[in-house]
Amino acid sequence: MTPNIAAAAPRRTTDPAPPPLAARPIVEVKSVSKTYPGGIEALNGISLDFPEGRLTTLLGPSGCGKTTLLKIIAGLIPASGGQVFVDGREVKGPGPERAFVFQDFALMPWASVIRNVAFGLELRGVAHSEREAIAERHIARVGLKGFERKYPHELSGGMRQRVGLARALAVDAKVVLMDEPFSAVDEQTRRKFQEELLELVANEGKSFIFVTHSIEEAVYVSDRIALLSRRPSRVSAIIEPKIMRGDDPDKIRRDSAYLDVVEEIWQQLKHYLD
Ligand SMILES: Nc1ncnc2c1ncn2[C@@H]1O[C@H](COP(=O)(O)OP(=O)(O)OP(=O)(O)O)[C@@H](O)[C@H]1O
Ligand SMILES: [Mg+2]
Repeated sequence: MTPNIAAAAPRRTTDPAPPPLAARPIVEVKSVSKTYPGGIEALNGISLDFPEGRLTTLLGPSGCGKTTLLKIIAGLIPASGGQVFVDGREVKGPGPERAFVFQDFALMPWASVIRNVAFGLELRGVAHSEREAIAERHIARVGLKGFERKYPHELSGGMRQRVGLARALAVDAKVVLMDEPFSAVDEQTRRKFQEELLELVANEGKSFIFVTHSIEEAVYVSDRIALLSRRPSRVSAIIEPKIMRGDDPDKIRRDSAYLDVVEEIWQQLKHYLD
């Protein structure tokens, strides 16, 4: 593998050349609006494409509508206007090609780890023994082997987050929507998760839509970053960090190209702070 970072200033889709990521869009958000009952306008005509097989991050101020947009893509809540297409088909509700890792874990407190992880498969009518075998594999994969029969209240916040991740991976969806999936873990675990996420993106052919509040994390893991403005949010910039993944994460984090992208995003986002 190419070691460390290859050059690269951030590129925006507004630059004349080179073109943005060539992958076809797996998710297309077209002029989507969302006004909640009570009149809060979370989104107003946002349009955004998400390239297939890549990781795209939504980065923006708290309350700008990131979770709202993920839920609309997932089909969990309806948009007030506009359309979302996944793999060319318009979203009308949840579907097996999309999986969601929630900001607040959303585990079933009365169900064991293995049942939580197997839940998506249970909904699809997969036989008990088969879904438990699949769930066991994913539980091991996120480092929770031995905790299959525990309940959510017996786990730490980070462990619960791993259960949420295992549940999303178990259904083998094409598109994985992740809402701040690493926010409850310590820095060491977070970095380990980031490496594992990069491996998933590289090896599984899935498309990831990721939300984080950490600019560093976004630059480290993303193929593409959509910067969002305050509510009702619009896309203020598209940045493709072009980090060449090497085998020395520490060196990448000290590299000036990486740090320049972090700084540039900070310069844009700090205007949205109160
Ligand atoms: N169910 C709801 N009913 C009414 N208003 C809502 C609802 N859910 C979200 N909102 C409002 O919509 C706006 C966007 O919320 P959303 O949760 O999408 O933001 P976010 O970008 O995910 O924020 P954070 O970074 O803090 O998670 C906020 O003003 C919020 O108060
Ligand atoms: Mg949110």
